[in-house]
Parts: sequence; C-alpha cells; structure tokens
Amino acid sequence: TIRAVVKGVGHYLPERVVPNSEFEALIDTSDEWIRTRSGIERRHFAAEGQTTADLGTRAAQAALADAGLAADDIDAIIVATSTADLTFPSCATMIQAGLGMTRGFAFDVQAVCAGFAFALTNANALIISGQAARVLVIGAETFSRLMDWTDRGTCVLFGDGAGALVLEAQDGTGTTADRGILSTDLNSDGRHKDILYVDGGTSTGTTGHLRMEGKEVFRHAIEKLAETAHRALDKAGLDAGDVDWIVPHQANIRIIEGTARKMQVSMDRVIVTVQDHGNTSAASIPLALSVGKARGQIKPGDLIVTEAIGGGLAWGAVVLRW
Ligand code: ACO
Repeated sequence: TIRAVVKGVGHYLPERVVPNSEFEALIDTSDEWIRTRSGIERRHFAAEGQTTADLGTRAAQAALADAGLAADDIDAIIVATSTADLTFPSCATMIQAGLGMTRGFAFDVQAVCAGFAFALTNANALIISGQAARVLVIGAETFSRLMDWTDRGTCVLFGDGAGALVLEAQDGTGTTADRGILSTDLNSDGRHKDILYVDGGTSTGTTGHLRMEGKEVFRHAIEKLAETAHRALDKAGLDAGDVDWIVPHQANIRIIEGTARKMQVSMDRVIVTVQDHGNTSAASIPLALSVGKARGQIKPGDLIVTEAIGGGLAWGAVVLRW
C-alpha cells in the first residue's frame, strides 16, 4: 500500500516575543487572567512587513533541510492559512517562488484553525491517488494582523508562526508497513458562523477583525474534538489506548486538557506548546509536531493523532505513524 509518510518537519517563529505583561499596559487584563484562562504565557508577532508567505517559506526550508530534499524534489505545495499576504495569488504559489521551486503545483486551503487537518487530508489524497509523490504541507499565519486591540477577550489569545511537513509516497512493506497517514476525518457545520469569524473580506471591502464568542466556541470544542479523534482512530482500526501522542491544535490549555480527559489519554502523552506560541491557527499543529520532535518527545514509530477545530465551524483529525 502507498502511504504518505513524514519525511521532514520544520518551523519558523518570528523573532519578537510578546509576554502577557505587555498587554497589561494596553488593556484591562493581567498575566494571571491570561495564564489561568488560556494557558498562554507569551506569543510571537511578525515584524512590520513580515508576511505569512515569509514565515511559511522559512518553515518550508527547515522541513526540506530535515528531509534532505531540495525544492525541486517536491511535486506539490499545500498551504493552510486564513491570513494570506494578498487576495491572490495564493500564499502557496508565493512560497513556491520563495523556495526557488520551478515545477509542480501549489494551492491554499482555508479551514481556519482546522486548516492543517484539511491540508494533510488533501495531501494524503494526492499521494495515495498517485498524483504527487512528495507534498510540502505548510500551516502559516499572521493572526496579529486580524486583532481588534481593544477587545481583551480575543487579542491576548493569538500569535504568528509557521510549520511544515514534507510527505513522501512510500510503498510500505515489512517493518515500515504502517508508517505514514493511516486515516483522516473532516467535518464542518456552517450554521455556527457567528461564534467565530472575521467581520471583513474582499467581497465586503475591508480586512476586518476577528470576532469570537469564546464561551460558545469552548462549548463545542471538547466534544467535537474528542469525537473526530475517536472517529479517525476507529477508521484506522485503533483506539485511544494505542496513541503515543495527541498533537492538538493549540488554542487553549483547558480545551487541550478537556479533550485529553474525554479521550482518557493522560497529559504526559499530549504535546503542549500553547504557553509559548498562543493560538497560531493553522500553524499550531505543524509547529507542535516540529517542537515535539526537537524536544525529543516524538520519535520514529510513534502513533500520533492530531485534532483541531476552528471557524466555520470546521474540525477534523488525522492519525499518522511518525
Ligand atoms: N483579561 C481580563 N479579563 C478578561 C479578558 C482578559 N483578557 N478577557 C475577558 N475577560 C473577562 C470577561 O469580560 C468576563 O468579565 P465579566 O464576567 O465581567 O463579563 C470575564 O473575564 C470572564 O469571561 P469569559 O468569557 O466568561 O471567560 P472564560 O473563562 O470563558 O474564558 C476564553 C474566555 C479564554 C476566551 C475562553 O472562553 C476560551 O478559551 N474559549 C475558547 C476560545 C478558543 O479557544 N477559540 C479558538 C478555538 S478555534 C480557533 O482556534 C480559532
């Protein structure tokens, strides 16, 4: 069987680190409130003029180096983002040019914070259907550009960053037979638009700001995340007891802990980076995979389930063996 196997991983975070204390001077908030309600201690913000494609290109270069591959070894680039540099062309084609890649094809997918699960699922489909042998899957965001800096309920929660995976078609036999993406599960329900959205866009003539009913999002998150993770594991003939690592979308430590508890997986089997990155939307899962590997937590052969939910609502999970 042809499987989409992880060949390399990398990430990039902008230099500027913003601790919670910086917000205390701007809005009525405290480091204590932000830590206890969200688990976030600091986040990175892109410099003026530094764009999503810039961050994504750096993450992609790191993933290519980790894979020992050059840009022209890649057949396709899929970028998950809601904060592309321009309305068009896609962020993916801009990263393609940034990498100096002159072949293949590139496109964006937009499923907000669940974007990386959607991008991985598309990459997997291209690989198992034989349309691409190597796919660069990138999550890259500059959510700092969407913040209403007077809204304390949202502006303290998000950060900028990018992560990338190189997936390669491998005909798994023998010991490597079950490596790579084993199953995927995607969902959306457009009736929930009003609890998490940006109140602007090309067709409305403004950029807009992120608007969120935090409590409502929270209410949906744990149940839907545990459900999609279970469904993905079930499709692979596995259950939560088989999981070495949950790599969740990093929105809020209470959602991460609640989902792990519901899945009956202990927190020492969960990769957590939300304290350092905040919510980087579609970038959070590849960032967590890259940091988890660099920390020595994720090792070859580990069974991983990723899960994410975001605006739409859109949510999903991917099961893969590293
Ligand atoms: N500092 C201090 N006080 C604050 C702040 C702040 N930054 N933000 C809100 N408050 C206040 C509120 O105004 C409210 O005050 P009030 O009681 O006087 O009205 C009080 O704190 C409690 O607010 P709640 O909204 O009830 O606080 P809650 O415990 O629900 O935490 C939070 C808010 C952190 C937003 C939480 O609801 C949450 O994390 N929800 C999920 C949001 C999320 O993760 N979204 C992203 C997932 S999808 C994606 O990634 C795009």
